[in-house]
Amino acid sequence: MARSALLNVMVQAATKAGRALARDFGEVENLQVSMKGPGDFVTSADHKAEKILHEELARVRPGYGFLLEESGEIEGTDKSHRWIVDPLDGTTNFMHAVPLFAISIGLERDGEIIAGLVFNPVMNELFVAERGSGAYLNDRRIRVAQRRDLSQSIVTTGIPHQGRGSHSAYLKDLAPVMAATAGVRRTGSAALDLAWLAAGRFDGFFEPGLSPWDIAGGMIIVSEAGGFATDYSGRKSPLNAGTIVAGNADIHRSLVDMLAKSQRT
Ligand code: IPD
Ligand code: CA
Ligand code: CA
Repeated sequence: MARSALLNVMVQAATKAGRALARDFGEVENLQVSMKGPGDFVTSADHKAEKILHEELARVRPGYGFLLEESGEIEGTDKSHRWIVDPLDGTTNFMHAVPLFAISIGLERDGEIIAGLVFNPVMNELFVAERGSGAYLNDRRIRVAQRRDLSQSIVTTGIPHQGRGSHSAYLKDLAPVMAATAGVRRTGSAALDLAWLAAGRFDGFFEPGLSPWDIAGGMIIVSEAGGFATDYSGRKSPLNAGTIVAGNADIHRSLVDMLAKSQRT
């Protein structure tokens, strides 16, 4: 696959930040974290990765704005373009030495995502997509799975933890999904949920309470792989909606219908 200049820029930044994250992850695995405990160590790894991504992307595309999870909004002189970046999606996994985490980068042009990247530096899996050019995993074209029935499908989700979200409302959404599917998974990284769905590993995904940086990179990878990613209504972009549901056309539709019913009762 011949990568565009834009994807090259994104891949270069993610490779550099990924190297730093992988090194820090090695420290967590070896339990050589400071006396302050893994929390502080992980926060500093997270900030370090974000700084690299910010510097690298700003250097090659001066003027573009940023929405960075840790540093917030940084306005650019170019008002049409904005990078939306999560330097470490899957922080809790990282802290527990679980190798399921990723860097996520989305590029927005005039309010629409036009390119996305999700990179897991430990598994060395790089997912990219650019509008109209398909989705790729390590330069190999990927497509969403073709399974049509929920009964054969794996659906992934994010479960609100202590201090987050409405647990009882979430359980109402989950109940019909677990009863209808071949299995529910919770990876702990929304970016990987989307990327793995694009690669056909997962068939569906739903989660409430996400932020733009969690999904900006992955949502275009899903759509370029032939899938759909919307809010729970099934009609709007999930980017700023706070809910997301994704899958191939059939699984997406089934999940949208199921979530609509569970919210009415
Ligand atoms: C989290 C992950 C997780 C999702 C959480 C997110 P973070 O991002 O994407 O899968 O369930 O809601 O906040 O905090 O690890 O960057
Ligand atoms: Ca995140
Ligand atoms: Ca994060």
